Amino acid sequence: MTVLGIESSCDECAAAVVEDGERVLSSVVATQIPLHAAYGGVVPELASRAHTEWISAVVREALDAAAVPPSALDAVAATSRPGLLGSLIVGLSFGKAFAWARRLPFIAVDHMLAHLYASRLTPPAAPPEYPFLGLLVSGGHSIICRADAFDQVTVLGATIDDAVGEAFDKVAAHYGLGYPGGAVIDRLARHGNPDAFRFPLPRLYKPARDGSDHRFDFSYSGLKTAVIHHLARYSTGATRVGTWDLGLGTGARCEGVIPPWTCAEDIAASFEKAAVDILVRSILRAADETGLRTLVAGGGAAANTLLRERLAAAPDLRCVFPPPSLCGDNAAMVAGLAYHYLARGDRSPLSESASARVSGFKRRYP
Ligand code: KG4
Ligand code: ZN
Repeated sequence: MTVLGIESSCDECAAAVVEDGERVLSSVVATQIPLHAAYGGVVPELASRAHTEWISAVVREALDAAAVPPSALDAVAATSRPGLLGSLIVGLSFGKAFAWARRLPFIAVDHMLAHLYASRLTPPAAPPEYPFLGLLVSGGHSIICRADAFDQVTVLGATIDDAVGEAFDKVAAHYGLGYPGGAVIDRLARHGNPDAFRFPLPRLYKPARDGSDHRFDFSYSGLKTAVIHHLARYSTGATRVGTWDLGLGTGARCEGVIPPWTCAEDIAASFEKAAVDILVRSILRAADETGLRTLVAGGGAAANTLLRERLAAAPDLRCVFPPPSLCGDNAAMVAGLAYHYLARGDRSPLSESASARVSGFKRRYP
């Protein structure tokens, strides 16, 4: 079954063609990063306008690259939630119109479930069997969950404030490293000493006074604030220029000024170590308590080098990561996941609408 997938939930305008949920025939990602970098973050109105201008060409390119004419498609899928409403509407409307015009089945896909599916696109020797632990870490969400099926997820823990990627982005913004910051801090940290500074870790796993259960929850705002205050103490006034591989496996590089910190690499490495520690502690606790020994990761921050190393080294835990190029937003994960709904006979109505948030997100997902 050949599925066209469309993704436009945030600042990547993407289309892909995937066969039988696994074989990626094409995956085109038109990034809007240069458009938003000047503002230090995604500007929703600019994002939706760019999607409107680009979507048609991006879909055409995905079909051409796959050498699949529209007449050879079996279905169309598009992300319908969660994300920026204006951005979501563009891809979703385009996908629905395309499906209607070609008389094809349409599937609306949840962005977080698609991230969780991404590692299946380059089939590991033995695909992970349900149930498994899921780790979803992006710029908007950070979730540890139990996955019982491709569309059945129970949230075990989540950030109570900033998402992991968001913490990287905000620290990078204070460094003057540009947007998005995760990949840049990752590269900078490779040249620093992770033990140079010790940043505070949240202690949510202690029972809260109100009796609420935060066993697997975590928090990033304390760490982010500590690092930002720390940066101020190490300013020297001199600047250096550096270039970094963006770590996407595509050879894409970014250039930037390393602002005047005496020990930028050490601060980046120490921050990254604390950020990864926070996640790994909660994941290992969840693995112990649930007895689930397989972890499947997804989302932009799942590309982080240290996170991958630390989890790969965790005893008794099998970790499955997508390749870095499929960690960030892409449409292959959308088309891949849609195959499983189609195979079950599901169809989404063309009245399906976009939704920025998912209600009941805290414990039961979707
Ligand atoms: O999944 P994604 O592409 O978009 C959302 O759905 O949010 O994730 C983007 C996030 C950004 O916050 C970015 O800084 C972060 O993923 N990110 C990383 C790395 N690469 C991207 N964070 C840490 N280390 C990385 N190597
Ligand atoms: Zn995402």
